[in-house]
Amino acid sequence: MTALRASLASRLSYQPHRTMALVGAAACLLCLSCLPCRAAPLPPQAASLQVLHWWTSASERKAANALASRLADENVAWKDAAIPGGAGLGAGKVLRGRVLAGDAPEVTQIIGTSIAEWAEMGLLLEIDGVAATGNWGNVLFPAVYKLVRHRQHVVAAPLGIHRVNTLFYNRKLFARFKLAPPRTWAEFERAAQRFKEAGVPALAQSREAWQVAALFENLALVEGGPAFHRDLFVRQSQQAVADNRLLAALERLRAMKAWMSHPVEELPWTEVVQQLAKGEAAMLVMGDWAKGELVAGGMAVDEAFGCGAMPGTGKYHLYSVDTLTMFAGDYSHMPAQEKLARLMVTPPVQAEYNAIKGSVPVRRDADPARMDSCARASWSAFSQDAAMLAPSLVHRMATDEASKDAIIAEIHRYFVDDAVTPQEAQRRLSGIFRALHGKNAKN
Ligand code: BGC
Repeated sequence: MTALRASLASRLSYQPHRTMALVGAAACLLCLSCLPCRAAPLPPQAASLQVLHWWTSASERKAANALASRLADENVAWKDAAIPGGAGLGAGKVLRGRVLAGDAPEVTQIIGTSIAEWAEMGLLLEIDGVAATGNWGNVLFPAVYKLVRHRQHVVAAPLGIHRVNTLFYNRKLFARFKLAPPRTWAEFERAAQRFKEAGVPALAQSREAWQVAALFENLALVEGGPAFHRDLFVRQSQQAVADNRLLAALERLRAMKAWMSHPVEELPWTEVVQQLAKGEAAMLVMGDWAKGELVAGGMAVDEAFGCGAMPGTGKYHLYSVDTLTMFAGDYSHMPAQEKLARLMVTPPVQAEYNAIKGSVPVRRDADPARMDSCARASWSAFSQDAAMLAPSLVHRMATDEASKDAIIAEIHRYFVDDAVTPQEAQRRLSGIFRALHGKNAKN
């Protein structure tokens, strides 16, 4: 590990001072007449930060641009390096490749358990000073403050909290069918049945693996609440995987296919949101970045669409927290990196960014009166006791990258292949947990 860290750290820092010295020496050798040889003064450079992230949809872009403008106000240019791919699947791969090539960006969207994985290699800038000055220990929600720290150091700056257990519904369709927004599972089933009978797909859904697994972790939450969700996805306990509630969640996932258009297509999340927007489907279970996208498309909350918690999870908050981390490199970007970290947590930036993005502020002193009804519900749910919160598996909040990928792949396989029985999927998940248990020694 130490050798890897040393080699990564040395490849990571591109060392501009050394490069400039070499350029200077070469100039000296060429210019024999200029004695004594002095390097020409460098023009003062405006600070800039390259930011690697996966915010590429209309609302994500708008939110990132708002942040970039605030950063420009502080004389730091945001050099955008956006990598498409919902839930950061592409961005993660690009980041690994760039770090190995010694070309790490100065700022990267790294979230959840991935923060610790990168911090453990000694690559992330510690921003304890920024956190202390901004009083992050008091102003941030405890679950957020915990996420941004590694070995007693703050190594990430938080932006917003997404609620993954959100149900969206098309208000026009609900009005046409004289249906009230479902809060319980029974109401959800009744509404879905009505739409199905009328030939309207009740639920917009993609067969992309991460989107299927996101629906499934909602179902695990419906069945067993946050404690069961944690036992499954954080502890990966054998007892939880053998539990009948897991079987029930698998059975529900299979049954819900009847509510979706057939065959379920492999669509990026933005297109799934469009199906709800156009009335091609009545409901959608997705993180509230979908709200940002609907609003960016001209639809208003509580008018064109509504949102509530996934039926049966009203009290719970299945969360994904967005954070940016800074690669230390040769520390030449530290002042600009610290500026960005400080700025991100300030109340005006929190309010502006989150209103566009669909997430809610990471600050406990945010003003709920300034939020729309979806955001207010999310922010209040997140303000509760930790027992009501569940860290999202799909969005890297619950477990490491390799474990997450293995679990998601198995759920996806079960979803796409109706020949796999729920019992078989349960057995396979149990096998994966056993393998992971050996690796993580967590049970
Ligand atoms: C991120 C969101 C993003 C969503 C869709 C999640 O992992 O937290 O910011 O909008 O993925 O890509």
